[in-house]
Amino acid sequence: MNIFRTDRDYALDLDSQDELAHFRGRFVFAEPDLIYLLGNSLGRLPEDTVDHLQSVIEEEWGRRLIRSWNDGWFDLPERVGSKMASLLGARADEVIMADSTSVNLFKTAMAALQLRPNRRKIVTDDLNFPSDHYILQGACRLAGPAYQLQVVPSPDGLNGSPEGLAEVIDENTALVTLSHTLFKSGYVYDMATITDLAHRAGALMLWDVSHSVGAMPLDLDGCEVDLAVGCSYKYVNGGPGGPAFIYARRDHHDTLSNLVSGWMGQKNPFEFSLGYEPTPGMRRFLTGTPPILSLAAVEAGIDLILEAGIDKVRKKSVRQTEYLIALWENLLAPIGFRLKTPRQPERRGSHITIGHDEGLRIDRYLVEHMQVLTDFRPPDNIRLGIAPLYNSFADINTAITRMRSVVEDGLYLDYKLQTMVVT
Ligand SMILES: Cc1ncc(COP(=O)(O)O)c(C=O)c1O
Repeated sequence: MNIFRTDRDYALDLDSQDELAHFRGRFVFAEPDLIYLLGNSLGRLPEDTVDHLQSVIEEEWGRRLIRSWNDGWFDLPERVGSKMASLLGARADEVIMADSTSVNLFKTAMAALQLRPNRRKIVTDDLNFPSDHYILQGACRLAGPAYQLQVVPSPDGLNGSPEGLAEVIDENTALVTLSHTLFKSGYVYDMATITDLAHRAGALMLWDVSHSVGAMPLDLDGCEVDLAVGCSYKYVNGGPGGPAFIYARRDHHDTLSNLVSGWMGQKNPFEFSLGYEPTPGMRRFLTGTPPILSLAAVEAGIDLILEAGIDKVRKKSVRQTEYLIALWENLLAPIGFRLKTPRQPERRGSHITIGHDEGLRIDRYLVEHMQVLTDFRPPDNIRLGIAPLYNSFADINTAITRMRSVVEDGLYLDYKLQTMVVT
């Protein structure tokens, strides 16, 4: 794509050539003028989800009541998992929906440590999501005093360090675990190369693909990944707090154990025997009763992506991030904004991070006064998430034009920061 124009007509031209443009109409737009660039955080609500949930609530819960457990609810974590598998490059029986990403990371990390009982080290990087760090710190505490979490520093706070990882992954490493797409900068690791690095040292590889799933095709099987976790509420549009997933490569299934062993992972839960015996396959990673309404919402979200085709979603995402970078270069770079996401398309996900010394005030001004929803991550990062199913090129053009005006016209200068729980 030859990108050289910054005017709105050019954006509208790009939209008119976009083969996914009609998917925008499949989402709820309660405020038509709102420019929503946070699909990397909480995806929009698909219209189909509203209809599907209404039917699940009225028919399955309202009328069928407890009989619905035998009409499909019991198997829903596997059924939705098998659809999620097609977004992950996994086989249908390798994915289960359960709990949150954090809890699933704990379960899979502990399972990995048990598979490498003579090794005492987990390796990650300092750009991994903080919750992943907290979970891994907890896993090491629980495993025993000899266990350590080795954190590889990023060279610049933006990019991963394959070289740094190569230096520390050794014969004492049980597990390497990283976010595939980094939440601050959008940097994407080369999954095959890093997984191979871990395997050559005899370690297991566990990816957090929360910021990748639904925005790009993944190939967990092809890369011979051991374990993966991720969420459903970003690009999958599964709804706030929607259940997360666990992937485990099929040849690990019989040897992995879930330390949070609850009755839903038990072989015959309705025998109510007191000894725990895991169900064969991924179901052992369940703990308690699955959240049926949330699972139903996730299913509708995945169906929409499958309908569009994940390859087309990625193709559009790359064009849109490229377009945004071109606008940054022309309109924002000259007035002090810095690009903090890799320019190489294969090294970046679907959000672009733009730094500015006054990033927080600029972000809050955009949100509160300019109808542009972006977010801020310390120290200076404004994130703009692009969800190709509903974001248009015109959205991107409007957002960047307004961002420019916030600084050029000094609009943020009078803005008083307020304290908020969620940013
Ligand atoms: C990469 C990544 N991992 C983990 C989490 C935490 O997910 P959860 O709140 O579902 O545990 C998030 C949340 O945004 C995330 O972005």
